[in-house]
Amino acid sequence: MKKTLLCVALAAASFGAAAQGQVNVICSVQADWCNMIATVYARTTGVKINLALKGSGEALAQLVAEKDNPKTDVWFGGTGDPHLQAAEQGLTLEYKSPTLAQLYPWAQQQAQQSGYRTVGIYSGPLGFGYNTELLKKKKMAVPRSWADLLKPEYKGDIQVANPASSGTAYTMIATLVQLMGEDKAFEYLKGLHKNVGQYTRSGTGPIKAVARGETAVSISFIHDAPQEKMQGFPVETVTPSEGTGAEIGSMSIVKGARNLDQAKKFYEWALTPQAQQFGAATKQFQLPSNKGTPVDANVPDFKKIKMIDYDYKKYGASTERRRLIARWEKDVNSLPR
Ligand code: F6P
Repeated sequence: MKKTLLCVALAAASFGAAAQGQVNVICSVQADWCNMIATVYARTTGVKINLALKGSGEALAQLVAEKDNPKTDVWFGGTGDPHLQAAEQGLTLEYKSPTLAQLYPWAQQQAQQSGYRTVGIYSGPLGFGYNTELLKKKKMAVPRSWADLLKPEYKGDIQVANPASSGTAYTMIATLVQLMGEDKAFEYLKGLHKNVGQYTRSGTGPIKAVARGETAVSISFIHDAPQEKMQGFPVETVTPSEGTGAEIGSMSIVKGARNLDQAKKFYEWALTPQAQQFGAATKQFQLPSNKGTPVDANVPDFKKIKMIDYDYKKYGASTERRRLIARWEKDVNSLPR
């Protein structure tokens, strides 16, 4: 009898889940975090999350491709510049969350600057990752500045992602342009190109390669290093002495979303401290945007880092982002190494 009741309850629960709908989410943070939120959300609400994992640049390309027939409802995570570009191109929906007041000013500013078509969900600074054992073995010094990365000793031993697919790499280009002025930044990128062993598709590829000893140095968001260290890899990070930029990881609802009501509910949930804790719970240590979310000790302390005043509006504009990436392809990536 008991067993029958349990079966009926389970059947009812699963029927309820099926009846409560679904949300199609492009997720641009690391897989563990994406899977965790999908699992918890489905268990607590009965709503299924269909995940597609994509880097920031690839996610934007998908939204452009789906423009006339959107299959995605929410784009969760990834660097803010392509979210701003999506907003400007009318790919994402204006939505003013009642939760905005609970967010840090940088996250609210991201929303304002996009006409409320995106919102900041986390932030993190760009820097370098290095493999302590490999540096020692190869008798290389720890790079402490952008200038250091041009030294011949690092030839073939630096990895960074490709800015066309990766928001991390675009953040690097925009940071250098703001630090040095555009022409000098491109001269710098040409010099760096000589030392780059590989441009990866994903922004987190290089720090994972550092962790596994496949390359000595990476240009990475430094919040991506602690999880590698926790797995026992000999990884440390440093931020460049000249100054560096940060991402404002963002979230947007797609314009024309088929599951709009569910998309808004998921979006609201994702802005709560309860949901934002799943970043650190899955060893991803960006600074969460809700002031009420506990900040893990592994989250980088911005106060200790020389930060530039990154112009998110300018570098998130379509023409600027497209132009800089095209210039990088033409002036830098086409050169021999
Ligand atoms: O998930 C880690 C992370 O570094 C995020 O902080 C960032 O938004 C994202 O990766 C960027 O990924 P990509 O460079 O591949 O677009």
